[in-house]
Amino acid sequence: MLQQVPLFQHLSTEGFLDLAQLVQEEEYGPGKTICKTGEYGDTLYAVVEGAVGVRRDGREIANLGKGEYFGEMAIIDSGPRSADCVAITRASLLALRKEQLQAFCFRDAQVLRGMMRVLSERLQGIA
Ligand code: CMP
Repeated sequence: MLQQVPLFQHLSTEGFLDLAQLVQEEEYGPGKTICKTGEYGDTLYAVVEGAVGVRRDGREIANLGKGEYFGEMAIIDSGPRSADCVAITRASLLALRKEQLQAFCFRDAQVLRGMMRVLSERLQGIA
């Protein structure tokens, strides 16, 4: 499952095995809210199967599918969630908590660089 997420695709077998110990699988039915705007959140989610809509002020600003992730902004700025993330179809996700993601970024700068690039694209509105 982790190998389907581009953010982690460069990892060695050892890296995958380490990361696999840290993530948890979560399932959400269609219409279920995963993140709510303004709420505190400390989890990054990667989409393994299904689709997740990112909504702000009732408008869908992104539709995330297999291999994409969300929830990084609240982890980076320690602020509240910047958007609602809602399962559009049944969604199978991998969840990674802030402390674990940060620890992983310290040992693997490529994960950090990948997250920064996607963050920049999202903030510019080009992702
Ligand atoms: P966070 O703010 O923690 O929670 C809501 C998430 O929606 C946010 O992290 C991003 O992962 C995601 N998100 C916000 N804006 C965009 C965007 N323009 N494109 C894709 N995803 C976004």
